[in-house]
Formats: sequence, structure tokens, C-alpha cells
Amino acid sequence: MMSHVGIIGTGRYLPENIMTNDDLSNLVDTSDEWIRTRTGIRERRISVGMNTSDLAYEAGSIALKNAGLKPEEIDLIICATITPDYFMPSCACIVQARLGAVNAAAFDLTAACTGMIYGMVTAEQFIKSGMYKNVLVIGAETLSKVLDWKDRSTCVLFGDGAGAVVLSNTKKGGMILATNLEADGSKYDHLTCSAIPLINPCVNTEDISASRLKMLGQPKIRMLGQEVFKYAVRTITDNLKAVLSKVNLKNDDIAYIIPHQANQRIIEQASKFIKIPIQKFFINLDRYGNTSAASIGIALDELAKSDKLSTGDKVILVGFGGGMTSGAVLLEWS
Ligand code: UT7
Repeated sequence: MMSHVGIIGTGRYLPENIMTNDDLSNLVDTSDEWIRTRTGIRERRISVGMNTSDLAYEAGSIALKNAGLKPEEIDLIICATITPDYFMPSCACIVQARLGAVNAAAFDLTAACTGMIYGMVTAEQFIKSGMYKNVLVIGAETLSKVLDWKDRSTCVLFGDGAGAVVLSNTKKGGMILATNLEADGSKYDHLTCSAIPLINPCVNTEDISASRLKMLGQPKIRMLGQEVFKYAVRTITDNLKAVLSKVNLKNDDIAYIIPHQANQRIIEQASKFIKIPIQKFFINLDRYGNTSAASIGIALDELAKSDKLSTGDKVILVGFGGGMTSGAVLLEWS
């Protein structure tokens, strides 16, 4: 018998500290007007003191309470992040200890801004296979630590935060009807954040220029903005079509779309291409900017806890990001 997988709890956590567009104009040559008209972003949260695992723990524990589960009842924790506290241990293991989720396996997953979608689809497979019953998926980021605060074309876009969902083998909550995952590694250089350079006693560093040596080992986000923009519009449209066709639904059957929150103009263009009115797209990027793997979980929590969703509503979560990666999850709400 085919088992069902549903979202039984959601949670979000945003750092308190707000950085406005005007604050940014004191750091780089930019303006509130440019940022608002080109992106839709008005402000973002920038963490002071809380690392990714701290944000992930807060969002995860709210999602657990919302699901009505005890930490011991969680079988697996997946943390989607590109800004972990450590390469090792995983953010998920730190969260597992802090929650007291003593029965849970734990690992991190990297799919950049598509992290929450990849995490949910991974969780769905563990539950469908019968291996696990309850899985906590968290998207958490402190992007502020990998931003180049001198690069106005990137530092104005991002923010810190965490969103979480609990998935279980039930039809209740947000039941998953269809999913889609895609990747195009040939475009990997469109959006990058470097890790540790290959320097060891066998490498002759004299062959590397002084300026390059200085840059190496300083992970910073680099982006070909317009390339990412085009990829985003195309893949939002493709992924929406893919999940709709998998379950024979039409545009009109959809109550809400929760897109990855990167840029208002990306969402507007995708809305035109797919011919679904912009009013159906849930948007909160004006308040949080782009929180990468956290954005869809944060938005889903806001929508789920509003009075906007009714039983039977179909909701699509759709993401895109570094890799390049993209994906979507179609839910039926109850
Ligand atoms: O999760 C995925 C993450 N990434 C994205 O979603 C990013 C997708 N791309 C975008 O959102 C847009 O490409 C950006 C918002 C990054 C840039 O918008 P754009 O309309 O593509 O601007 P542009 O790169 O063509 O730059 C236009 C001008 C340039 O000046 P010149 O060459 O015309 O004189 C830039 O130097 O705007 C300048 N500029 C800025 N000016 C004021 C770039 N950033 C800023 C800034 N403030 N922050």
C-alpha cells in the first residue's frame, strides 16, 4: 500500500536585528530606491551572535511543538544549509543534541536555495520506504558571514534566518501530492561560495599569485546576477508545470505558490510566463531578503499560521539556487 507523507508542523526563526536598505547605503554605494525597485527588498535580518545551528534549533523546536511531537519521536533530522557552523560536525547533529532528539539520525544537505525542497523530498523518501515515521527538515542560514560586504551587487540581497517542517506518514496537514527535482551543474559558476583551497605540503604556493592566495580560503558569495535571474524565471516555470502535470492539475486548481524569496521581479516574470496571477504568489522577501535554504520554510510557516489556507487548498513550494538546482513540492492542505 502506498504510504502518504504530510507536513504536520512548521516553524520559523528570524534574528531580531534588522538591517534596512538605508543602513546598507552607509556601507556600499547603493540606495533604498535601487534595492526596492530592482529586488523588492526593504529590510533583512542580520544575526548578531547566533550562528546557523542556533537559528536552526529555534525554528526546529517551534516546528516540533507545532507538530505536537516530543524530541524522542523524531527519527531523522535533515538540515539544509550552505552556511554551517562547521564542516564537521553537521548542523543537524548540533540541533539533534540541543533538541534532545536522541533517537534521530542527522545529516546536512547542500542544495543552496533549493535546500528546503531537496530536504523535503529526501525526507519523503525515507518515510515512504517505511524506514522512518517522523522527519524534521530545517533550512537555516547565516549568509551574512559569507557575504562580501564591499560588493553592492550581492550584499544587499541576502539575509539570515531559519524555517522548519516536520513530515510524517499521514494524510493530514500538508499532504505531498507531487515533487520534482532538477540540477544543472554545467552552470555551477553562476553562483558560488568557495571552500578550502587545495594547499598542502605538496603544492608549490609560489605558483599562486599573492592576490589570489589572499582571496583563497575566504568564502564569499559570488554571483552572475543576470544569469541567475534567467535561470530562476525559467526553472520556476518548468518546475510548476512539472508538478502540475504529474497529478493532472491545472493552474486554476492552485490556491498558493510559495516561491524561493530572491527577487520580486523574478516572481513577477515567472507569474507572467506560467500565467498564474501574482496574487497567488506568497511574498515576504520585502521583510527578510533572500535567506537561501531558509526562505521557503519561513514563508510556509507564515502562510500556514495565517488564516489564508482552507482544507483542500493546493499549494506549491518552488525553489531555485546555486548548483544550479531547482525543484518543487505540491501539497494539499487539510
Ligand atoms: O537564490 C538565488 C540568488 N540570486 C538571485 O536570485 C539573483 C538574481 N539576479 C538578480 O536578482 C538581479 O540580477 C540583481 C538584483 C542581482 C541585479 O539586478 P539587475 O537589474 O540585473 O542589475 P544589473 O546587474 O544589470 O546592474 C545594473 C546597474 C549596474 O550599473 P551600471 O553598470 O549600469 O552603471 C550595477 O553596477 O546597477 C548597478 N548596481 C547597483 N546600484 C546600486 C548593482 N547593484 C547595485 C546596488 N545599488 N546594490
